[in-house]
Amino acid sequence: MLHFETIIEPFRIKSVEAVKFTRREDRVTALAEAGYNVFRIRAEDVLIDLLTDSGTGAMSAAQWGALLQGDESYAGSRSFFRFRDVVQDLTGFRHVIPTHQGRAAERILFHSVLKAGDVVPNNNHFDTTRANIEVEEAEARDLVIPEGRVPALVHPFKGNMDLAALERALEADGDRIPLVMVTVTNNTGGGQPVSLENLKGVRMLCDRYHKPFFLDACRFAENAYFVKTREQGQASRTPKQIAREMFSLADGCTMSAKKDGLANIGGFLAMNDDAWAERCRNLLILTEGFPTYGGLAGYDLEAVARGLEEVVEEPYLRYRIRSIEYLHERLVAAGVPVLRPAGGHAVYLDARTLLSHVPPLAYPGIALVNALYVEAGIRGVEIGTVMFGHQPDGTEKVPAMDLVRLAIPRRVYTQSHIDYVAEAVIGVAGMKDSLRGYRIAKAPAVLRHFTAVFEPLEG
Ligand code: F0G
Repeated sequence: MLHFETIIEPFRIKSVEAVKFTRREDRVTALAEAGYNVFRIRAEDVLIDLLTDSGTGAMSAAQWGALLQGDESYAGSRSFFRFRDVVQDLTGFRHVIPTHQGRAAERILFHSVLKAGDVVPNNNHFDTTRANIEVEEAEARDLVIPEGRVPALVHPFKGNMDLAALERALEADGDRIPLVMVTVTNNTGGGQPVSLENLKGVRMLCDRYHKPFFLDACRFAENAYFVKTREQGQASRTPKQIAREMFSLADGCTMSAKKDGLANIGGFLAMNDDAWAERCRNLLILTEGFPTYGGLAGYDLEAVARGLEEVVEEPYLRYRIRSIEYLHERLVAAGVPVLRPAGGHAVYLDARTLLSHVPPLAYPGIALVNALYVEAGIRGVEIGTVMFGHQPDGTEKVPAMDLVRLAIPRRVYTQSHIDYVAEAVIGVAGMKDSLRGYRIAKAPAVLRHFTAVFEPLEG
């Protein structure tokens, strides 16, 4: 019997969308007109869009088919019950509250349970999670293990929570901690997984200090696959069994179905506590919609329900994790500094190390993102000083890493697209000495990276 090394895309393509090829000089103009911020350029002017893996995936034929099954009733729609059943089958949580995306779940949860001065520990908060905590005048405290802050260091579960640090926080600030969160996989820290053992440790501490434990579950399936392949004793279990165990250790979760829901829009908040759920539902009605649709169309609920079933299929996850690793391997082989090991949804370039001549406050991540766009038409995103450096008091603090994330949309790009990306990154890395930093000309106070206007520094 033949043994195959090649892991192929576990699908064939029946509908395609043309990409537009642009000239370098057009990209130079487009970028300048966008204030040197790739969030502000037209997607049409991007050849390969690795800005995010959120809502950018390709839905399956079964999901498109499910759209026609959408029940658009305002209250009690059949699509809600299908959605609720799938979420409950996976997570086991009693209350399932649909939201239009992840940050709506965050906003509703935090506004319902936080007060000024509270502290929320997490391995690493993502930008919207942090912002939704800070807007309540509470503190988002990052307690990832020390290994999770060193880009080049290899560790199988770099997203793990530092349990000793969590215990110290619970001991010192326990009365100000209404809940503990863990993000799976840890997006801000490089799409790195959290082990089941670590989740059990968090559970134990939460029990000891009587705190609810919530997962930020956006990429739960990718996390489950890493557990299967890296954690002792897990190899023979299915990703779904592992995912169920992850959820069973928590009391609730926030979820963006734009990631491991394999949908273009959608999310949910789920939990066991009746009183919290009631508070959240009341707020949901105020800003999102009735609790059986929560800001989504009935057809969106159908697409998410089907997506949650497909995302835990093993051939899908094997291909997904391998396709990121493939790009990662090529960059490592060429000596490009990257965060190691490969993440579940993205490759993270270590811009601070590559552009060591650009100080963090001249935003090396922006310099690298912009060069990738100009030279190759690829759009990535800075995850560094621009995204996380701005403090609530208006000062700037340099975070642990300046990364550029190349997030791979699910089921969208083929291996030759990825080969092109590898060639482009290696080419731009070779031009590093010619890249210059930026200054911020204009930025809003909150979530500045989305809309900031930059100016290139002379040099
Ligand atoms: N939590 C994590 C870990 C995320 O990565 C995101 C979104 C959210 C919450 C919020 O979900 O976008 O549906 O409101 N991350 C996207 C990204 C935007 O590009 O990583 P949302």
